[in-house]
Parts: sequence; C-alpha cells; structure tokens
Amino acid sequence: MAAITRHNNRLGVWGWLGGGRWGIERYAYILHRLTGLGILLYLLMHTVVTSLRVRNIYLWTEGGFFHQPIFRLGEFCVVAAFAFHAFNGIRLVLVELGFAVGKPIEPIYPYKTSVGVQRPLLIAVMVLALLFLLVGAYNFLGLAR
Ligand code: HEM
Repeated sequence: MAAITRHNNRLGVWGWLGGGRWGIERYAYILHRLTGLGILLYLLMHTVVTSLRVRNIYLWTEGGFFHQPIFRLGEFCVVAAFAFHAFNGIRLVLVELGFAVGKPIEPIYPYKTSVGVQRPLLIAVMVLALLFLLVGAYNFLGLAR
C-alpha cells in the first residue's frame, strides 16, 4: 500500500486569508471576473427594465417595484462592483501594456520577481477604488441631498 505523506499547514489561517502562495493578485483576478459578469448582468437587466417604458411601465419610479430600499442596496453593490472592476481594470491594462513588469531577463536563479512593483500598484488602485466607493456611500446614505 502506498504511504500517505502528510504536510503541516505552515501558513495557517493567515495563509488562507492572505492567499498563501496564491497572493492577493489571484483573488483580484477572481473578483475581476465575478464583478465583470455581475455588472454585465446588471446592464442587461437595466436595459430590460428601462425599455418597459415603451409599454408605459415605470418600475423604478415612486411606488414602483424597484423603488424599494433593498434595490437601493443592490445599486450600491453595483457601484462597489464597478469601482473594483474599473480601477483593477486600469491596473490590468497598465500591466498588460508592460508597465510595472520590468524588462525581460534571463531566468537565472535566484529569480527576480516584479511582485515588489506590482503589489504597490494593486494597493494604489484599491485605495482609489475605495475613495470612489466612499463617494457612492455618501450618496447611498442620502447625505448628498
Ligand atoms: C472603466 C471601466 C472598465 C475597465 C477599465 C475595464 C477593464 C477590463 C479589463 C482590462 C478586462 C480584461 C481583464 C484581463 O485582461 O484579464 C475586463 C474584463 C471584463 N470586463 Fe471590464 N472594464 C470596465 C468596465 C466594464 C463594464 C461596464 C462591464 C460590464 C458591462 C465589464 C465587463 C467585463 C467582463 C465580463 C470581463 C471579462 C472578465 C473575465 O473574463 O475574467 N467591464 N475589463
């Protein structure tokens, strides 16, 4: 019978939270996909709902189905998803154009990594996304009126 090798969970809960060998960039990748699909779904639903006005159905006005507080919360989630997607998208465009990646070099051990430049870039765009979200929250909480 083949022997079972057990490995200690050296990274512990912090490894799970921080991504361990995944890194936060991997979480950003998953979130980018989810938020992209989420705002695409919103766009489709938004188009359907607003196009109902050709039949004289106004679901989003006072007394309409979508005028309930829960949908305001939903709108805020769309703002949050957009804030993340848009700012992370700008980071992706920059990285894909070659910014913050460094010049190509021979892979000689110990290998060099661009994480040291890319991670501050990720943190910077997330700070911008958070500022954008705060403006959205200001409006959501009714403070803009
Ligand atoms: C300022 C606005 C936006 C920016 C800068 C942006 C940027 C990007 C970038 C760079 C990608 C490719 C990611 C990659 O290379 O892996 C992407 C993917 C995507 N975006 Fe956006 N985007 C924006 C707005 C939107 C909007 C409004 C929608 C929906 C209506 C959307 C839906 C998607 C979807 C579905 C994907 C594919 C996700 C995937 O396959 O992982 N994006 N976006």
